[in-house]
Amino acid sequence: MSAPWIIATAPGKIILFGEHAVVYGRPAIAVPVSQMRATATVARAEPGQGLKLALPDVGEAVELARATADHPLAHVARLTLAAVGLEQPPDWLVTVRSQIPIASGLGSGAAVATALVRALSQAADHPLSASQVSALVFESEKLFHGTPSGIDNTVIAFERPVWFVRGERPLPFAIGRPFTIIIADTGIASPTRVTVAAVRQGWQADPARYEARFDAIATVVQAARQAIEQGNVADLGPLMDENHRLLQEIGVSCRELDRLWAAARSAGALGAKLSGAGRGGNLIALVPPEVEISGRITAALKASGAASVITTIIGAEDTPHGPP
Ligand code: PMV
Repeated sequence: MSAPWIIATAPGKIILFGEHAVVYGRPAIAVPVSQMRATATVARAEPGQGLKLALPDVGEAVELARATADHPLAHVARLTLAAVGLEQPPDWLVTVRSQIPIASGLGSGAAVATALVRALSQAADHPLSASQVSALVFESEKLFHGTPSGIDNTVIAFERPVWFVRGERPLPFAIGRPFTIIIADTGIASPTRVTVAAVRQGWQADPARYEARFDAIATVVQAARQAIEQGNVADLGPLMDENHRLLQEIGVSCRELDRLWAAARSAGALGAKLSGAGRGGNLIALVPPEVEISGRITAALKASGAASVITTIIGAEDTPHGPP
């Protein structure tokens, strides 16, 4: 086997506003997080070996020819090979790794699939557009998550902030003034599929109650878009708090997330909310510009049980991969 000649990466993501309601047709805002990435490399294997996926993070090695149809990465690899016109799988060893915690609302599944699609298409010398990559990754998201809205594959494949409504073209989204977010991991893995199914059960039992919450979330998301585009960062704090409260009401927060929320707010965060599917995963907190307050919030989150704390600046960089 030779050394890899292709290295492709994809970022993590956070949902700033609108998770869960987005599954029911309301808008959501998501942004890429470039500090944490998934990486896929391609090396040539011995002739006749076929295509093999090495997944060292989960201790798995998958021969494409033998993988079952419901393996999300094997599925997306097959679809990608077809999309780039390779009917016979080439003799390649593709290694996929990720720095993004699994099942914590940071888009790890979509990021590894995006890195894989990018690596395969580059190795085949057949570039795909961001929207082609996004559509392929969506197919693996269905196997990971059941009924995904499509927001994760979109924000990660386009690698830019998106305003997302299910079934519509994602809108590019301007950030009027950069702002700082602290991402605190509860350390509790919470599969999106499970939480989305729980919300669906609640919605089926009492549609009016859930629809009212989803409408209220949509109002928050609209206001947040305006505040972000106009650079009114201070307005975002109360909107995050309100979004968190509504997510509590639909039953997707948990004690640990609420403890981190309280810790961030008493340490000086302008607002905070869970991000992603909830019942674990991450809390995001909006940080005022003063460095000492940011340090205080980080310390408070760690003292309240956060397994890891990352600071990221939203809107500081723009690495678009083509127009949505
Ligand atoms: O993958 P996560 O944990 O960021 O959750 C995705 C957001 C949900 O709205 C809960 C589900 C979806 O498909 O949009």
